[in-house]
Amino acid sequence: MKRVRIGLAGFGTVGGSVYRYISTQAGFLESRSGVRVCLSAIAVRDPGKKRSHGIPLPRSLLVKPEELVARPDVDIVVELMGGCGMARKLVLESLKAGKPVVTANKALLAEHGEEVFTQSNRSGTPIFFEASVAGGIPLIQSLKEGLVANRLQLIYGIVNGTCNYILSSMSKEKLSFEKALAEAQAKGYAEADPSFDIDGIDAAHKAAVVATLASGGCVKFKEVHVEGIRNVSAADIQFAHQLGYEIKLLAIIRGINPKSVEVRVHPTLIPSANHLASIHGVTNSMMVRGDVVGDIEFSGPGAGGPATASAVISDIVQAASSCGRNSSEFNGTTARIRPVGPSVAAIESVVSRYYLRLTVTDRPGVMAQITSVLGRAKIGISSVIQPEGHEGETVPLIFMIHDAPYKSVKLALSAIRKLNCVKAAPIMFRVETFGK
Ligand SMILES: NC(=O)c1ccc[n+]([C@@H]2O[C@H](COP(=O)([O-])OP(=O)(O)OC[C@H]3O[C@@H](n4cnc5c(N)ncnc54)[C@H](OP(=O)(O)O)[C@@H]3O)[C@@H](O)[C@H]2O)c1
Repeated sequence: MKRVRIGLAGFGTVGGSVYRYISTQAGFLESRSGVRVCLSAIAVRDPGKKRSHGIPLPRSLLVKPEELVARPDVDIVVELMGGCGMARKLVLESLKAGKPVVTANKALLAEHGEEVFTQSNRSGTPIFFEASVAGGIPLIQSLKEGLVANRLQLIYGIVNGTCNYILSSMSKEKLSFEKALAEAQAKGYAEADPSFDIDGIDAAHKAAVVATLASGGCVKFKEVHVEGIRNVSAADIQFAHQLGYEIKLLAIIRGINPKSVEVRVHPTLIPSANHLASIHGVTNSMMVRGDVVGDIEFSGPGAGGPATASAVISDIVQAASSCGRNSSEFNGTTARIRPVGPSVAAIESVVSRYYLRLTVTDRPGVMAQITSVLGRAKIGISSVIQPEGHEGETVPLIFMIHDAPYKSVKLALSAIRKLNCVKAAPIMFRVETFGK
């Protein structure tokens, strides 16, 4: 039986769950994996803190995070602290010292991937990060190994449970964004400060990690186009329904090649018949298109202690097999991630279809003014809705727009906003059918 000794940095939602499973399911894990996982040390920030997840902190194992790497009884460092401060230092030191790392930290990989993968390659020490994207869904392992025969052509999906919960409540219960957010917070699905999730940053971190793996080179997080869901209104969701669409916050990665890649996160109208349209609540779901296998769907719990612990423990077992090997034998996929990856295609050059909602004065001739701006920009309209029964001075006007580069749409929207008949900033969302 292979024995591996881990140093656990972080004992919060994920760290606490990892501890619970490796201590209560040890026998099962050994019989299934052939690996005995022993916990040698734990680092937290505040040993005196009351732990809300009900798992008592084993105080006899407490050490400072700075001490973990040097300990002779630690073979693998499991980083579950989060953030890019102490976590970055610990991960780099561990890789430098030749101790494999398991991490769930998408922010670290997205924002400092170049540094982390350079160190991993230089010291021949692997880093495993299954839990960094889509929680309990084994997406990373599938991209690394299960789909190795494929050129990955398209990856898209729902990678933020908080946003999906809010958009699902808006869609099914016809709630306003504010009410749906408050409900998500009351149920513990959104933080008191939800900006990281609802502004799309968390999803963009995950998109950058997936794009890095899919392209084989570090994608710069700063180049990823990000739009959150604050602008999505209950009215837009209802208009989307009338048109046969659902609105989801999607991470989209396509045009994957060693030189460039499209990586973007934004609210997206998808046909109601698309599998993702029926993914509700906090569930995550990703679709991967490979040139050999075709389309594959991955769905499941994208966050939470137990689901994320499932991914972390799988990585610990993987990492165990690399322990004790000569670094020159290390041939994990991480070694094939180049520190400098493809550049992300500028959003201005990205071509897609669009949903456009304008607030206009209720007078004859308005439609002609708007269609003339779109026509001059060579933007084709596929359908228009002018709902009846609206009272007051202004009415909504909804356009579905054919494929166009964002550069043209942006210019046209700025001209439309200047028209006297347009009374509010235009609302625009991209529409994707993913070639179906
Ligand atoms: N929660 C999820 O569902 C989920 C899902 C996928 C990935 N992740 C990722 O998993 C990681 C951990 O998330 P989490 O939700 O478990 O976070 P969490 O509940 O906030 O726990 C963080 C833990 O790290 C410790 N810590 C933080 N900074 C530290 C420092 N400077 N020195 C020592 N210890 C420190 C904290 O100590 P104290 O306990 O003393 O405060 C705490 O035990 C993050 O990278 C996150 O993005 C989380």
